[in-house]
Amino acid sequence: MTTAPIEQRRILTTAIPGPRSELLQKRKLSAVSAGVGTGLPIYVERAGGGIVVDVDGNQLIDFGSGIAVTTVGNAAPSVVAAVQAQVEDFTHTCFMVTPYEEYVAVCEQLNALTPGEGEKRSALFNSGSEAVENAVKIARSFTGRSAVVAFDHAYHGRTNLTMALTAKNMPYKQGFGPFAGEIYRVPMAYPYRWPTGVDRCADEAFDAFVSAVHTQVGERNTAAVIIEPIQGEGGFIVPPAGYLKRIADWCTQHGILFIADEIQTGFCRTGDWFACEHEDVVPDLITTAKGIAGGLPLAAVTGRADVMDSVHGGGLGGTYGGNPVACAAALGAIETMRAEDLCGRAREIEALFMPRLRELAEKFDVIGDLRGRGAMLALELVSGSGDKTPNSALTSAVNGYCHSQGLVTLTAGTFGNVIRFLPPLSAGDDLLHEGLDIVEQAFAANA
Ligand SMILES: Cc1ncc(COP(=O)(O)O)c(C=O)c1O
Repeated sequence: MTTAPIEQRRILTTAIPGPRSELLQKRKLSAVSAGVGTGLPIYVERAGGGIVVDVDGNQLIDFGSGIAVTTVGNAAPSVVAAVQAQVEDFTHTCFMVTPYEEYVAVCEQLNALTPGEGEKRSALFNSGSEAVENAVKIARSFTGRSAVVAFDHAYHGRTNLTMALTAKNMPYKQGFGPFAGEIYRVPMAYPYRWPTGVDRCADEAFDAFVSAVHTQVGERNTAAVIIEPIQGEGGFIVPPAGYLKRIADWCTQHGILFIADEIQTGFCRTGDWFACEHEDVVPDLITTAKGIAGGLPLAAVTGRADVMDSVHGGGLGGTYGGNPVACAAALGAIETMRAEDLCGRAREIEALFMPRLRELAEKFDVIGDLRGRGAMLALELVSGSGDKTPNSALTSAVNGYCHSQGLVTLTAGTFGNVIRFLPPLSAGDDLLHEGLDIVEQAFAANA
């Protein structure tokens, strides 16, 4: 086992990907289903702080965190220690058979950390998709209603029900139907692309939502409205201030549960424990995963005790849900988030990124929009000169350039035209600045 800390420095020893990665990629192509893609085929040997080390000895700067997962950093010391101690004690009993304290402790933490002062309960699962599926099950069971309302540009997962909730066809849904029923889609408040302009977005989007649910679904048939407080895969779309609260309040008036999918936004990512807090919204149910356990698979539904307890005994669960090793990791990750004030660190990262990205957006008119919060920031790329036609070709070129220079970036967006930044909150300022230098060079070389 390697224990020496990873030098927090970008090092390129070969072209990206290097020869060893290329060999592994060849093996991958003949062993792994072609349906499982890889965005940047460097094969990872180690990772930590803000660096990913590949099998060729390259050290890349990480602006992706494994898609918003390693918020506390990769192999974070508190996570490693908790996992090591736990695997030596026991690795699995199944909480539904013979329970253990770690599961209960994670639920206690979730109940305390999520928005809302009322009594809460949680249930643990393995993946974000599974948490969303269970939130829908719980909402249907509590309300006795079946319809669920989701938004344009939404991403909620890849299982059958969550594919139905996810908006984008390629690559998530193409050829995989038929999808689960009783899912209805409404327009999203997308300020940059709202047809009548940013200023009218909040009111008109809210009116469109109310009208669609009223005329096409029926309030009394609607179990839940599910929304990401900042849409993730959809392109880091931040709805206008007050919009989420109006939707949540309207749901309450109609006995409809408001589910916040905080799988990508949760656990300090946006500068608070949860993105709903910026909008003073208290969801009935909240789904979490990704950042919760420092890289181990864990997910949760947390919510009002009366809602969560309305499900019959044995109705929720699964063999691995709340696995003790994943729970130990979560307890370690949460401890680090508190001890190192990672919410504060996410706000610092926003303060570091924003002026530089703003300057870039002023220089290159192909950057149509700059948005996000905390350490969840994005650039939407368009044709330029006032033309908002999505520019996915430039997005791929900028992303590819960053990769070639040793910076792990990700794309997003319904139109494939968003570059998103999700650095681990453990990355130092120097690395972040160096990563942003590469982003600037990518635009200079391609825009
Ligand atoms: C908002 C949101 N919901 C749900 C999911 C699905 O999570 P998982 O990939 O763990 O199933 C994701 C994953 O990207 C997500 O960002």
